[in-house]
Amino acid sequence: MLVSAKEMINKAHEGHYAIGAFNINNLEWIKSILTACEEMKSPVILGVSEGAGKYMCGFKNVVEMVKNVHDYLKITIPVAIHLDHGTYEGAKACIEAGFTSVMFDGSHYPFEENLEKSKELIALAHSKGISIECEVGGIGGEEDGTISMGELADPKECAIIANLGVDFLAAGIGNIHGVYPKDWKGLNFDRLAEIQKSTNGKPLVLHGGSGIPQEQVKKAITLGVSKVNVNTELQLVFAAATRNYIEAGKDKEGKGYDPRKLLKPGCDAIINQVKEMIKMFGSDNKAF
Ligand code: 13P
Repeated sequence: MLVSAKEMINKAHEGHYAIGAFNINNLEWIKSILTACEEMKSPVILGVSEGAGKYMCGFKNVVEMVKNVHDYLKITIPVAIHLDHGTYEGAKACIEAGFTSVMFDGSHYPFEENLEKSKELIALAHSKGISIECEVGGIGGEEDGTISMGELADPKECAIIANLGVDFLAAGIGNIHGVYPKDWKGLNFDRLAEIQKSTNGKPLVLHGGSGIPQEQVKKAITLGVSKVNVNTELQLVFAAATRNYIEAGKDKEGKGYDPRKLLKPGCDAIINQVKEMIKMFGSDNKAF
């Protein structure tokens, strides 16, 4: 059974660790992430961007696919299926389609409009027992065509959205989606601490979790981050392992071109990467 992310995130916040929210793209990603998390006995959130939802032939198909893989693999850890950076319409569609958690990203709207829409969607999600994340202050970089400069979130605005009863809050603290540029200044811990204080200890979400140095991730967790989003990192390790396989000519040996063989090194790389990140987040052995 898929669960809301509320309980696992609250436990993580109390226990000073974080839950990984790994973005899924296809069957291979779902299988590999669930396999790694089951082995590590870690709760997990499967993130689905609206673009990835379209790629996987719609939100209903994604929900069915995740449920079926979950049951087939006899997964026992808590698993939430979560809309990542949802639009207002997308969040409603996912609530309808059976997601157990949604994010409404209204950070590009004027604050008043973000507030109104967040309020409505929080009430809707909670009426169905679904957890909800909202965002204040853009996350840098590009995701599904939306480009944000990554401003720092305003602690006062964070407090207002937190008071609406959102379950966890994404707040810009200098984090960026995608590969971090060489001149990146790092996370702004002073702002993170201010936000944690102004929101009275609301669990916070760190987007752009790929490529942040380990010490910074761990420090962010001590300051109230309870969910770390990871997408790019798994794409990079999958691509590198697949390239190695093809460059070594393995697709030309026997039936090495069979997708079950061709995609295996990439899947194994995802499994290893997810396990490493779970250790960094401290969510291993926290499933039960
Ligand atoms: P990365 O692709 O940088 O890991 O960011 C993922 C993310 O924040 C999804 O919302």
